[in-house]
Formats: sequence, C-alpha cells, structure tokens
Amino acid sequence: MPATAVALLLCSLLAVAGAAMDPAEREALLRVMEAVSSDRDWRSSSGTDPCAAPWPGLECKPDAADKRLMRVTRLDFGVPPNPACREAAAFPTHAFSALPHLQSLFLVDCFKNPAKTAALALPPAANLSASRLQQLSIRSNPSLSGTLPPQLASLRSLQVLTVSQNPLVRGEVPRGIGELAGLVHLDLSYNSLTGPIPARIGELRSLQGLDLSYNSFSGPIPSKLGRLAQLQKLDLSSNNLTGSVPATFSGLSSLTFLALSNNGLSGRLPAGLAGLRDLQYLIMENNPMGVPLQPELGGIARLQELRLANSGYSGSIPETFGRLTSLTTLSLQNNNLTGRIPAGLSRLKRMYHLNLSKNGLDGAVPFDGAFLRRLGRNLDLSGNPGLCVDDRAATKEIGVGVCGGGDGSGASPGRAIARGGALWPSASALLCCCLLL
Ligand SMILES: *[C@@H]1O[C@H](CO)[C@@H](O)[C@H](O)[C@H]1NC(C)=O
Ligand SMILES: *[C@@H]1O[C@H](CO)[C@@H](O)[C@H](O)[C@H]1NC(C)=O
Ligand SMILES: *[C@@H]1O[C@H](CO)[C@@H](O)[C@H](O)[C@H]1NC(C)=O
Ligand SMILES: *[C@@H]1O[C@H](CO)[C@@H](O)[C@H](O)[C@H]1NC(C)=O
Repeated sequence: MPATAVALLLCSLLAVAGAAMDPAEREALLRVMEAVSSDRDWRSSSGTDPCAAPWPGLECKPDAADKRLMRVTRLDFGVPPNPACREAAAFPTHAFSALPHLQSLFLVDCFKNPAKTAALALPPAANLSASRLQQLSIRSNPSLSGTLPPQLASLRSLQVLTVSQNPLVRGEVPRGIGELAGLVHLDLSYNSLTGPIPARIGELRSLQGLDLSYNSFSGPIPSKLGRLAQLQKLDLSSNNLTGSVPATFSGLSSLTFLALSNNGLSGRLPAGLAGLRDLQYLIMENNPMGVPLQPELGGIARLQELRLANSGYSGSIPETFGRLTSLTTLSLQNNNLTGRIPAGLSRLKRMYHLNLSKNGLDGAVPFDGAFLRRLGRNLDLSGNPGLCVDDRAATKEIGVGVCGGGDGSGASPGRAIARGGALWPSASALLCCCLLL
C-alpha cells in the first residue's frame, strides 16, 4: 500500500512536471528569478515545476484554452513576503515578452545599489503584441535609470501603470501613452521626467487617477485633459507648468481631488470649476496667479479643503466662501488680500483650520468666542496690521489687537504689526525652503 501510494505520487508529480508548465515559460521564469531575486533557495524549493508549488510573489493560473497548462500570471518582487531583490538586480526585460500570460508585475524597492544602476528597458514593440500585462508597478527604485521606453505603448492590456519614486528615471513621456486605451490609473510621480505633459493623455477615457506630481514637466497644462470625465484624482503639483488652468477643466465631472501646487501657473481659474459637484480638495498653493479671488469658487458645493496660499491673490475674500458648508480647511496666507473677513466664514460649522496670515485684511474680526475656541491654534490672522478684535481675551492666540485701542494708546494695530514682524523671519525662511524645494 505505501509503495503504491509513493508510486502514484511520483507518477502524478511526473505528470504535473510534464504537462503543467510550458518549458519555455518555465525557463523564462527561472531567468527572471536569476536576474532579480536574492533568494538562493528558489531553484531547489520550486523543483521542476514552480507553478505546482509557487513561492510568495509568484502566481500561476490555468491556461484559458488548455486547463492542464499552468501560466505565470503575477510576479511580485521587493516587499515581504515576496522575494527580496538581489544586491545587483538587473531589470527583467524579457519578462515582458517571454511570459506572455503575465498580468501583473511589481518591482518595488528593488533596484537600490548606488554602485550598480539598472536600466529600464523593454523588448522591441513587435515582441510585446501578445502581452496581457494589466498592471505594471515600478516603484521606489533609487538606482533604476533610463527613460520611459516608447514600447510602453505596445502594452495594450495595461490598466494600472505606476512608475513612481525612481529619481533616475528621466526624459519625456512617450506620446504613444495615448494608445493605452484601457488605462484606469497612471502614476508617474516622483521621477525626474521633463518636457510637456503629452496632450494625448486626454484620450485615455477610462482614466480615474492621474498623478504626475514631483517631476519637472514644463509648458502649459493640455486643455485636452478636460475630456477625462471619469477622472477622480488629478495631481500635477511640484512641476514647472505655466499658463492658466484650462477652461475645459469644467468637464472633469467626476473629480474629487485637484492638486496644482508649486508650479508657475497664473491667471483666472475657470468659472466652470463651480460646476464640479464632487470636488472636495482644491490644493493650489505657490503659483503666481496675480488675480483677484473669484466669487465662483464659493459655488464648489462639496469643497472640504481650499488651499490657495502664496499665490499673489488680490482683492477681498468673496462673501460666497460663506456658502462652503463642508469646508474644514481654508489656507489663504501670504497673498495680497484686502478688505474685511466675510462674516459668513464664522458660520462654517466644520471649519477647523483657517490661515489668513500675511495679507492686507482689515476691520473687526467677525468670529465669536465659540468659533475662536474651536479653532484654537489652528486659526492664524497674524500679519494683517489692519485687523482687530472686539473680544480682548482672544488677542493672544490669533495675533491681532483689540479694536479701538484697548490699552488706551490706540495702538492695537501697532501690536498686530509687532507680532507680524516677529513672525516674519521664520515664515519667510519657511517660504524660501518651499521655493527651493
Ligand atoms: C523578440 O522576438 C524575436 C523573434 O521572435 C526573438 O528572436 C527575440 O529574442 C525577442 N527578443 C526579446 C527581448 O524577447
Ligand atoms: C522651469 O522653467 C524655467 C523656464 O522655462 C527654467 O528656466 C527652469 O530651469 C525650470 N525649472 C525646473 C526645475 O525645471
Ligand atoms: C502684493 O502686491 C504688491 C504690489 O501690487 C506686490 O509688489 C507684491 O509682490 C504682492 N505680494 C504678493 C505676496 O503677491
Ligand atoms: C499660517 O501660515 C504661515 C505662513 O505660511 C505659517 O507660518 C503658520 O504656521 C500658519 N499658521 C497655522 C495656524 O497654520
């Protein structure tokens, strides 16, 4: 009986070994392991058929046409429990062509050896026509160098493309990226990419997330991006973009998060932004806008955070901001705003962070004791010499004097100036840091 069982087991193992994996695919898998993995035991522990006893990070699935044949569908390197990468890992270029059933490939924290850079490279486009790759994630690889290969455009099954936090990855985004019609998420943040944002990204109609932040993209924001009606998150912050925000952005009807901080953008925001019913975050600090704050912004019904600091805005804070009932954070510091603080702001029940410091606001602060207590240290009105409060008790925390000269010297604005002056060196140092970054 035991002998029969052993024989049966052997037979079934042999049968699996004979039929379970395509030999060429198995060979390709072992070459990928050789190039990337630091695990010395994979070859012995996986035996003749890795798909029969897959290690963490390896996933196989039966072939669609021939259920007895196992195909490599997912490879995940770098983050435990997946295989760690070798000290001198090479980019597994052939995985893209020799594992044609691969659906997901992750290379995270993989290329880290400063003494040996690995080159990001893909096989010729013709070898990629059979690719079924849906998800490609190349992230946090400080020693991965090169440009985004134009052959990326041949990975027609891609839905999620992440090439992020690889500081040596440079150059322009291939225009062919517009051919990846199935893309749902495109994240190219924190690389060293340059040149224009390809307008053809606006043709990726299924796109829900687009993150190009922390690169050196320059030129205008393509107006074609406004066609992305499924887009929920758009982050173009910390680049070198110029021109104005395209009017077509009123077409981004699914948008919840828009970040454009730290660029060279200027001019008026499109009035149509007020029609973006789902927009919750508008983060647009450090741009030389140089225009009055527009009343239309008060029409973005679900806005929770509005950050427009350091952007050369002039004029008064629009009364319409008092309608932003979901607002939790309003940052308008370091602009050229003048006039009174609208009383409507004091009725915003969810507000917990309000920074209006370093502007030219004046008059009596419209906030009552309850509002002042609720915001506490998260309220900053300093550096507005013309502002004052009626409530003497509040003066310390918010950095403004008492209206009508409470100490008998009529010097409340003077006190505010003094406080603003004291704040100035540290705040300007901070601003310099931001600009340098
Ligand atoms: C590309 O395909 C050709 C022809 O099938 C083959 O000879 C070559 O090795 C392939 N190159 C890569 C990198 O897969
Ligand atoms: C930004 O663009 C300006 C003008 O085109 C250029 O002089 C500057 O070097 C760019 N800065 C970066 C960080 O790319
Ligand atoms: C405010 O306006 C003055 C003059 O109009 C200008 O010199 C200054 O740079 C502006 N400040 C900011 C922060 O934009
Ligand atoms: C308000 O902004 C100034 C200038 O950026 C900063 O120094 C200060 O810490 C901020 N205050 C609060 C309460 O966020």
